[in-house]
Amino acid sequence: DPIDTLPPTFRWGVATSSYQIEGAVAEDGRTPSIWDTFCRVPGAVANGDHGDVACDHYHRMPQDVALIADLGLDTYRFSVAWPRVQPGGRGPANPAGLAFYDRLVDELLGRGVDPWVTLYHWDLPQELEDAGGWPNRDTAYRFADYAELVFGALGDRVKTWTTLNEPWCSAMLGYAYGNHAPGRRNLGDGIAAAHHLLLGHGLAVQRLRAAAATPIELGLTVNLSTADPATDSATDRDAARAADGLGNRLYLDPVFRGSYPQDVVADLAAEGVRVPVQEGDLEVISAPIDVLGVNFYFGQVHSGVDEQGRDRDEHGKPVRRVIRRDLPRTAMDWEIVPESFTELLVRLHRDYPGVPLVITENGAAFDDKPDADGFVADDDRVAYLTEHLRAVARARQAGADVRGYFAWSLLDNFEWAYGYDRRFGIVRVDYDTQRRTPKRSAQWYRDTVRRVRGER
Ligand code: FCB
Repeated sequence: DPIDTLPPTFRWGVATSSYQIEGAVAEDGRTPSIWDTFCRVPGAVANGDHGDVACDHYHRMPQDVALIADLGLDTYRFSVAWPRVQPGGRGPANPAGLAFYDRLVDELLGRGVDPWVTLYHWDLPQELEDAGGWPNRDTAYRFADYAELVFGALGDRVKTWTTLNEPWCSAMLGYAYGNHAPGRRNLGDGIAAAHHLLLGHGLAVQRLRAAAATPIELGLTVNLSTADPATDSATDRDAARAADGLGNRLYLDPVFRGSYPQDVVADLAAEGVRVPVQEGDLEVISAPIDVLGVNFYFGQVHSGVDEQGRDRDEHGKPVRRVIRRDLPRTAMDWEIVPESFTELLVRLHRDYPGVPLVITENGAAFDDKPDADGFVADDDRVAYLTEHLRAVARARQAGADVRGYFAWSLLDNFEWAYGYDRRFGIVRVDYDTQRRTPKRSAQWYRDTVRRVRGER
C-alpha cells in the first residue's frame, strides 16, 4: 500500500474552524461576525441554520481535545474567531476571548498534540464589513494588527501559523458570487477582496516574523483543484486555462512569484475589473513562507462551449462551463477523483518549487446512517480517505514535498451555506444531545496512523 511509504516524520492531524464548531456566539464579549449576520438572511443558509450553538465546542473543548489525543494524532488545526479576541475588529484584545484559545493550546500541549493556528477562517467581524469589508484596503491592515495580537498571546507556545484559509472562498464566494457571507455579488468586489486578503496575508507574515523570538512556521492555506479541458479543442483548453487562472494561479503567483498572472489580469480587464494593486504590494504579498497548506476535495473539467456548441453567451462573453463527468460523487455533489490530487501536488512541486506542502484539509460528506448507538459505519468515507491518502503518497513518490495530512473534519459541523445537512466529521455529532461518537473512519484513521508510524 503506498500509504505505508509515508515517512515516520509525517504529520497527522484533523482540522476544524471556529464558526463551524464553537457556538457561544454572544459569550465572553464576542461580537457578531459576517456569518452571524448572513445566517439571518432568509434563504441564505439551508434550513435557516446558524452557528449559535454548532457543536458547542466552546463549552466542550477538553472533551474534544481528548478525542484528538485518543486518535493518536500529532496536530490539531483550528482557527481563532477574530470577533472573539478583538471585538469589532480593531482596538485592544478581549482577554476573556483570548483566554479560550489559551486554554485550548495548553490542553493540546498537555495531551501531546501540536496546535496549528489558522488566523482567519471566514468569520470577519461584522463591524469591519460595515466599514467596507475585504474590498476595503484598510481591512488588510486591521488583519495584520489582529494577527500580531493573537501571536502576542499564543506565540510562546504555538509554532505553526496559517494566515488565511482559502482566500478564493472568502473573496469569490463571499463577494463575487454571493453564496457565502457577506453575500455580495460583484466581480470587482471579489477581486478587490482577493487582493486585500493577500495583502493582509503578507503584512501578517512580516509582523509575525518580526515578532517571533524563536523560529516559527508561517504559511497560507489555499483551496486548489485541477482544471482539465473537456476536449483537446482550443476553446476548451482556454476555458481550463481561465479556470486554473482564477481559481489557482491568482493566489499562487503573487505569493510565490511576486506577480499576478497576466492572462487572468487580461480576462478581468475584459470584464472591466482591475486588481487594485498599489506600489510595493506584491513585495509584501510574496514575503517568503515556510509551508503551503493545500485543501483538496475534487477535480473539475471545463468547457468553452455551451450545449449547442457556441463559444459565446448572449452577452458576447466566452462560455465557461464545468462539465459533469460520470464519476462517483460525495453528498456535496463533488466528483471523487483522487488521481487529480496526485496530479495537483506534482504540479505544485513543478510550478512552485521549494515550499513544503501540508494537506491542511481533505475529506468528504456522505449521507451517514447512525445505528441505535449513534455509530456510523462510514465505509464510503473510509474509502475516500484511503484513496486520497494513497494519492498523497504517490505524489510524494513523484517528488512532491508533502509533509503532512489533516482530515476535514474532526467533528460533523456547520457546513456554511449547507448548514448542518452535510456531515464531514470522522466523529459523529448528535446535535440534540451534543454526544460525540467516533465513526468507523475515525477508527480507520487511528489504525492507519499507528501502522504508518510503525507503532504496531
Ligand atoms: C472548505 C472549508 C471548510 C469546510 C470544507 C468542507 O472549503 O475550508 O471550512 O467547509 O470546505
